[in-house]
Amino acid sequence: MDKKTILLKAYDCDSGREAIEAAGRILREGGIAAIPTETVYGLAGNALDPAATAKIYEAKGRPSDNPLIVHIAAWEELAPLVRRVPREAELLAAAFWPGPLTMILPKAPLVPDTTSGGLDTVAVRMPRDPVARGIIRAAGVPLAAPSANRSGSPSPTTWRHCVDDLWGRVDAIVESHDCQVGVESTVISLCPGPDGKTQPRLLRPGAVTLEQLREALGEVAVDRGVLERLPEGAVVHSPGMKYKHYAPAADVILVKGNSAAYGEYLKEHRAPGEYAMCFEEDLPLAGEPALSYGAAADHAAQAARLFDLLRELDRLGAKRVYVHAPQVDGVGLAVYNRLIRAAGFQIVEAEEKTEIQP
Ligand code: TXA
Ligand code: MG
Repeated sequence: MDKKTILLKAYDCDSGREAIEAAGRILREGGIAAIPTETVYGLAGNALDPAATAKIYEAKGRPSDNPLIVHIAAWEELAPLVRRVPREAELLAAAFWPGPLTMILPKAPLVPDTTSGGLDTVAVRMPRDPVARGIIRAAGVPLAAPSANRSGSPSPTTWRHCVDDLWGRVDAIVESHDCQVGVESTVISLCPGPDGKTQPRLLRPGAVTLEQLREALGEVAVDRGVLERLPEGAVVHSPGMKYKHYAPAADVILVKGNSAAYGEYLKEHRAPGEYAMCFEEDLPLAGEPALSYGAAADHAAQAARLFDLLRELDRLGAKRVYVHAPQVDGVGLAVYNRLIRAAGFQIVEAEEKTEIQP
């Protein structure tokens, strides 16, 4: 693929006005562009134009049965995309939109099958990032946007990641800030069950936490794929969950246990040159080479650094990486969910050795 790609600079809506208008024009006319959002950079195209979404799949090298998230800039833009707006969607929008939350709802005929991956549901999100919102408004159409990485590689959290993955494959890349959140949006299904009542189900954890969703809605089920590998042939509620994801070239092993146990594990298993990706507090016992992805209790920092570090490990030529697993409360659940995929589900339980007294 050899497209002419242009770089458009928009760090805010004032100085970036012309770039935002230019990106909007490209998208309105059927082109595709990498754009910033607060979660990760998205590869955007007109969600209502099958030719544009076909270009997205092609540029990403993504299987076209994996549905796209439709991005809107205002609440009124939701209704035409879905068959019905349930009360639960109103509650969640009031609490978390604009923001890193995607809702899955029964789709209206307006949304082409190519956008929904052939499903009868559609994923919708209203991002918070001002430049993203400016670009949606300038385009004048809802924007389908998966993460702007080549399929299989970690999601892009800086414009440079987009250049690395998509230069020559898209019409434009918008140069803007590093993504504040760093992991993709929380995905919740609000589709009705057999009794016609909405059955909220968390499909992908993100910066809007399970605890926050339960506070807003009461009962929220958690899809099995959030915490474990789905068995062969299982019903997949979120097609994205079945692909190997976020993976660097290195062999990643996720190590559970406290800091001391993690340190012991490294001592026992690590060969020279193999990497530790750990918490700030682990550094004194992690040896070399080691990279920290934030303090153990600071899940927001871990999320923000995660994908850049996975790419960094590739740049460093790491062959194997032992990652210290986060706790799964709050945003930690999102970090853990991405790491088990980066690790291809290689997860080990480290045990702290208790000294045997003579
Ligand atoms: O934060 C984000 O959500 C970013 C930014 C760009 O907004 N986008 C993003 O898109 O992460 P993507 O395509 O990489 O991930 C979308 C996820 C996939 O796992 C996909 O299977 C799921 O959402 N999904 C989309 N539509 C769905 C639907 N109708 N039913 C179930 N899952 C759906
Ligand atoms: Mg993605």
